[in-house]
Amino acid sequence: MTATATSEVSKKPRNRAQSLARFAIPIFCLIPVSGLLVFFFLDKLGADPIEKITHVTGEWGLRFLFLSLCVSPARKFLGWQWLAPHRRTLGLASFGYALLHLATYLVFDLGFNFAFLGEDILERPYITVGFGTFLILLALAVTSNRRAIRKLKKRWGTLHRLVYLAGIGAVIHFLWLVKADLQEPLIYAAVLAALLATRIPWQTLRARYSTSK
Ligand code: HEM
Repeated sequence: MTATATSEVSKKPRNRAQSLARFAIPIFCLIPVSGLLVFFFLDKLGADPIEKITHVTGEWGLRFLFLSLCVSPARKFLGWQWLAPHRRTLGLASFGYALLHLATYLVFDLGFNFAFLGEDILERPYITVGFGTFLILLALAVTSNRRAIRKLKKRWGTLHRLVYLAGIGAVIHFLWLVKADLQEPLIYAAVLAALLATRIPWQTLRARYSTSK
């Protein structure tokens, strides 16, 4: 859900692999939720199904957010321009899983009580950050269509740069809620740092640094 508005306008795929991606990527996005549904109906989600659903939806929300952030480096370094329209699909998948994650928490943990959610947002820092991240994903999802691109013009690009903040927020949310083993959230933090580093215009910075010497 990032980058320039023009790159969001889908181009016709050029070969078989690329046309396959048009179907494979949306199907891939639906696999985790389908798995959850199958395991739910087979009663195979373990001793605490609600906890399992919260974890799976949270993790996939984060993974799809990261996958959407992989699109720009793949275009820049591998020349995979055809991936551009799939960034929207991956971003929407991230929002979809974040919505399921929040809904699971609201319905099953808080008994659909918005007052409790308000209290949690004010009192539990990891929920505060998670909710802020969710609001960013919501803003990006509702403006990820052509009409919004046309209407917002240059502001669309500025708004969609908030995806980086969403990535940081999601990692902080994860780091904050983990009590003992920080390994997994730290791996996500390292991946995010690498993804953000690919956005830094190193050559321009180097050129500026060498001329200022
Ligand atoms: C209002 C919004 C949110 C609420 C109320 C919320 C709540 C929670 C809760 C209760 C947990 C489990 C805590 C525990 O195990 O003790 C959790 C875990 C997690 N959440 Fe969220 N969250 C929110 C938003 C988000 C967003 C937007 C993302 C990412 C896009 C996210 C990603 C995660 C991840 C990765 C985990 C850890 C999953 C694991 O244990 O493997 N959350 N969240």
